[in-house]
Amino acid sequence: MKTRLASVPLLLALAASAFASKEKPVIGLSLDTLKEERWQRDRDTFTAEAQKLGATVIVQSANSDDTRQVRDVESLISRGVDVLVIVPHNGGAMTRAVKSANEAKIPVIAYDRLIMNCSIDYYLTFDNVKVGEAQGGYAAARLPKDRKARIVRIYGAPTDNNAKMFKQGQDNILGPLIKSGKIDVIHEDWALDWKPENGKKIMNAAITRAGRNIDAVVVSNDGTAGGAIQALLEEGLAGQVLVTGQDADLAACQRILRGTQSMTVYKPLKNLATLAARVAVDVAQGRKPAAAAVLDNGVKKVPSIFEKVISVDKENLTATVIADGFHKAEDLR
Ligand code: BGC
Repeated sequence: MKTRLASVPLLLALAASAFASKEKPVIGLSLDTLKEERWQRDRDTFTAEAQKLGATVIVQSANSDDTRQVRDVESLISRGVDVLVIVPHNGGAMTRAVKSANEAKIPVIAYDRLIMNCSIDYYLTFDNVKVGEAQGGYAAARLPKDRKARIVRIYGAPTDNNAKMFKQGQDNILGPLIKSGKIDVIHEDWALDWKPENGKKIMNAAITRAGRNIDAVVVSNDGTAGGAIQALLEEGLAGQVLVTGQDADLAACQRILRGTQSMTVYKPLKNLATLAARVAVDVAQGRKPAAAAVLDNGVKKVPSIFEKVISVDKENLTATVIADGFHKAEDLR
């Protein structure tokens, strides 16, 4: 048994936070990683909005390590935060930490990625199935029609529920074409931990196994697309093969302008992070913000909010990512 509740300074901290929760709630933000550019932006936008609303945010990042992230969340619980916002590295492994939060009566919001089989209060994310449909749809519309198209599929981290939803969206479009024999999937695999080097390894394996004759690589995010494109570059194939992505990372937008990546899916992070900060403060102050949807996490229909996503290529990059202030035009040159 842990003895943390017996500690006097901690009891004082808990009392202080309970008192503070009305006007100045303390939010614990537990991130899987800060490696991809997007998560730094999520953190900064979330923190800025929360501070505007009078809250304090304590941020932890677990460097893709489940044990560390569970420990992070437990330490936030023992610091007496009023609400937890969690981006799980592993939506299954995080169940344990949420149970501790439930025992401590601290509400939990899953941010971007779902946490499975436990009682969470809200799930705020982008429409992840639509992300996959945008990727699959972009490729399907541009594949050769006069012969069987040859594609490689690189999925995300198998520990991330989102990766399955991106695949599901891609399957919605590509599935019937694969079944009817119009598309041949010459190689497919999951990129552990969403690591770019794993994207590269999968692409190398595809070329070794099935040759250089490839029409498209349907990749689930920009980080792993960067790895796949590196492999294509080394084979002299970059720019000749359609490659998809997601996140509108700066490097990916540069590749789109250079022609080595074909598209990305832009997710206006500002909308999601701002909304999450508002929901977190509301929940900490005892309100129940409305959520238009629900998503089943195995034990609960979780009140959920899905933000819209935008498919981006060379044609509309300026009208979307740049016009929105997500990147500056001069940074893309
Ligand atoms: C997010 C993506 C991100 C990926 C890797 C997913 O859960 O939705 O935006 O690229 O994780 O961090």
